[in-house]
Amino acid sequence: MDTSQSRTHRATNDPRMTNDTYGVKRLRVLLLEDDDLDAGLVEGELSLYGFDVQLMRARTQSEYEEALDGEFDLVISDFGLPQFDAYRAIATAQERGIDRPIIVVTGQLDDEAAVRCIKLGASDYLLKDRLARLGSAVERALDEYRLRLEHLRSVEHERSQGERLNALRLIDVAITGSLDINVTLNVLLDQVIISLGVDAAAVLLLDANARELTAAHARGFRTDAINETIVRLGECIVGRVAMDRQTQYVPELSESHEFSRPDMARAEGFVSYHCVPLVAKGETQGILELFHRERFVPDREWEEFLEALAAPASIAIDNARLFEEMQRANAALEIAYDRTLQGWAQTLELRDYETKGHSVRVVELSRLIGREAGFDGKMLADLNRGALLHDIGKIAIPDPVLLKPGPLDPDEWEIMKKHPEYAYRLLANIPALREAVEVAYCHHERWDGTGYPLGLKGHQIPILARAFAIADVFDALRSERPYKRAWPKDEARQYILDQRGSHFAPDMVDAFSRIPEDDLE
Ligand code: C2E
Ligand code: SIN
Ligand code: SIN
Ligand code: FE
Ligand code: FE
Repeated sequence: MDTSQSRTHRATNDPRMTNDTYGVKRLRVLLLEDDDLDAGLVEGELSLYGFDVQLMRARTQSEYEEALDGEFDLVISDFGLPQFDAYRAIATAQERGIDRPIIVVTGQLDDEAAVRCIKLGASDYLLKDRLARLGSAVERALDEYRLRLEHLRSVEHERSQGERLNALRLIDVAITGSLDINVTLNVLLDQVIISLGVDAAAVLLLDANARELTAAHARGFRTDAINETIVRLGECIVGRVAMDRQTQYVPELSESHEFSRPDMARAEGFVSYHCVPLVAKGETQGILELFHRERFVPDREWEEFLEALAAPASIAIDNARLFEEMQRANAALEIAYDRTLQGWAQTLELRDYETKGHSVRVVELSRLIGREAGFDGKMLADLNRGALLHDIGKIAIPDPVLLKPGPLDPDEWEIMKKHPEYAYRLLANIPALREAVEVAYCHHERWDGTGYPLGLKGHQIPILARAFAIADVFDALRSERPYKRAWPKDEARQYILDQRGSHFAPDMVDAFSRIPEDDLE
């Protein structure tokens, strides 16, 4: 290798340095030096070392401060200047947030000053009579600076990667943990703002029937305008993205003719805009709008993360909607069932006019017993239906038996005792009525095992039927029948208490006994 060449091109052999077309490393130096001779020496030494030097010369504090606003790769500062020194040069650069390397050059050896400069943040400290070291000192300072920058970037990168993974995890939890669309959308918007560094974000949901998108949730807005957003499918950016399912990016909203809410953008101070389709199962669920109040140019990673957020968010919206629809359908079905059941119960009363109001009264009384027994909402609802339906099987009992004005003979009893089984046959195939059917089927079972149709004993009897039996008998006793008079309240109540452990389950009798007597009507 030719040594003279090697010296000239030394700086260019480093692959981390960017070279110009001639293979010479350009070096922009901010030189703080009042002495012209010293300035020339510095420049000469750097050129000799192989740098293509662009010199910015500052002789005073004010020239230096002005030069700090310019572009340069590093600062070389004379240690002592009139009314200014390297300490203050270092401090001034730091105060301005300029972290470029600073090399201090001095005429006198002073260990203390050297240590202090380095401590303040200088990269190196050289004697003027050892300027031959300057080239390598500059090179090392630039290398260190580059490494520091790379490290800072990777730390920042890791931090934002961590935040983003966390955001995806949170959204995942929101999707699997909650079917409430409001919860999911709130989590989504929080994470969009935090992890994507967006100033404001909104979700518009698509109503496919109405063919329009309406603002459902918004974060970071200063005005209410976003909440009034309604966009027809296919119109404006939002409506087009919902159709085309391609993310649209508008760097400058003020220059877009397509964005149809310029007043809102102005009032909010929005500059850059993203409109992202939320698509699940091949269908547009809605739109995610992102607004920046300063011009924002996304990088590849940001865009990828945006996509990564949009996918689960879309699924979450779809899930939540399916769940809502299911709930609505269920509610509609339940209302239909309940109407049907009420209709049946009324049919029965029309025929067996003696039991007029019996079903409604036993519904009320069994609810009081169930509440005292600590039943939850689902149990109370099932008990309610069971009570309404308990004697539905009497539909199949012939009039001469059902309406007989006196005691039944044994054959008639056999027929009458079939009414729980008729109820079972009538209702057993309706899944929603499974528990209610048990009430109808088992309401004449007795705690001591002497009841019918199965002769079940104790806890073999379904709990709702155990509670209901008390309501049924109490109301039958209180009512006048063709074959019996109506019992006074106290006697009817005492009869129930007396049958504790024989006809009736003890715990249910206890629950009944706690009902205030005034509520028994
Ligand atoms: P229901 O009138 O709804 O009576 C329900 C239950 O209340 C009866 O179930 C019975 O446990 C009780 N209960 C009703 N009245 C009296 C009473 O005067 N004394 C006593 N100790 N308990 C009473 P049960 O016995 O299985 O009867 C089921 C259904 O059979 C009754 O429903 C009613 O429709 C009919 N039934 C019962 N006894 C007669 C009767 O002597 N003549 C007629 N025509 N029907 C009867
Ligand atoms: C929201 O929290 O969903 C609405 C608030 C807003 O308008 O930014
Ligand atoms: C609108 O709000 O009317 C349309 C929104 C848009 O163009 O982005
Ligand atoms: Fe009955
Ligand atoms: Fe009854």
